[in-house]
Amino acid sequence: MNQKIRKAVFPVAGLGTRFLPATKASPKEMLPVVDKPLIQYCVEEAVAAGIDTIIFITGRTKNVIMDHFDKAYELENELTTRGKTEILKMVQEMMPPNVSFVFIRQPEALGLGHAVLCAKSVVGDEPFAVILADDLIANRNGDGCITQMVEQYNKHQCSILGVERVNPRETDKYGIVKTKEVSPAVGQVETIIEKPAPEHAPSNLGVVGRYILTPAIFDKIEHTQRGAGGEIQLTDAIAALMSDEQVLAYEFEGKRYDCGSKLGYLQATVEFGLMHEELKGDFLDYLKNLALD
Ligand code: UTP
Repeated sequence: MNQKIRKAVFPVAGLGTRFLPATKASPKEMLPVVDKPLIQYCVEEAVAAGIDTIIFITGRTKNVIMDHFDKAYELENELTTRGKTEILKMVQEMMPPNVSFVFIRQPEALGLGHAVLCAKSVVGDEPFAVILADDLIANRNGDGCITQMVEQYNKHQCSILGVERVNPRETDKYGIVKTKEVSPAVGQVETIIEKPAPEHAPSNLGVVGRYILTPAIFDKIEHTQRGAGGEIQLTDAIAALMSDEQVLAYEFEGKRYDCGSKLGYLQATVEFGLMHEELKGDFLDYLKNLALD
């Protein structure tokens, strides 16, 4: 039976240590790129793919994410009083009315696999997406990454991992896969290893923060022991899933910014600034002048 991808899990319970002190009291997913927090770009990407249930796995300091997607009565009243109708409309129409939000607390940051497992009762027996909001992916002239992956799921009816070629010296930052080609952008995953040192990596095809998983993953996570970094790794559960089901890797179209790192975040800020309708002209002039200084 073909099941539609309707639910997306957003694990946002990590500690964000690479961005301290910015993330001491507020989540890295709320870092703004130009005028929107990272999490909003990613929720919009999911909604554009037809997803209508957004499941956040949250931790300490993450209540602000709940507030961000909640109705803001005081703000709306204030904007009405001040006659700021355009801004009011933007705030009110941030999310389509059919989209619902679920918040689940991950009691301890035991790893990405454990965070995904926290969504089990809400996801139930359906395939679902997992989106890591610190990977911001822009595809300027085409479909968003999750839309592309849902299309692949509809074609192949199995778990799909979003992958890209990474710097071979940086394989120890990613889950790395070895694949057998199925079609130009799609490969069957034969091996998956979490954060291998470059000399042990089977390729430089890295898994980034986009997954479509079948519900069989939950049982696999439940049987996954702590792995790299002492955490319950989603990668290890995917490796176990591969013995029962086909898992595919999909090289998506678009550019990824690793906004969990300072450099990636700065690159996203500059490039999204240069794409921003209202700012791009002035911002480009500013950058040109800066380069000439
Ligand atoms: P990261 O490996 O990026 O960890 O987690 P982190 O804590 O967010 O950031 P750094 O490395 O310390 O700077 C990958 C994703 O998994 C989520 C994070 O929120 C992030 O989206 N995560 C990780 C959880 O939700 N729970 C966990 O226990 C661990």
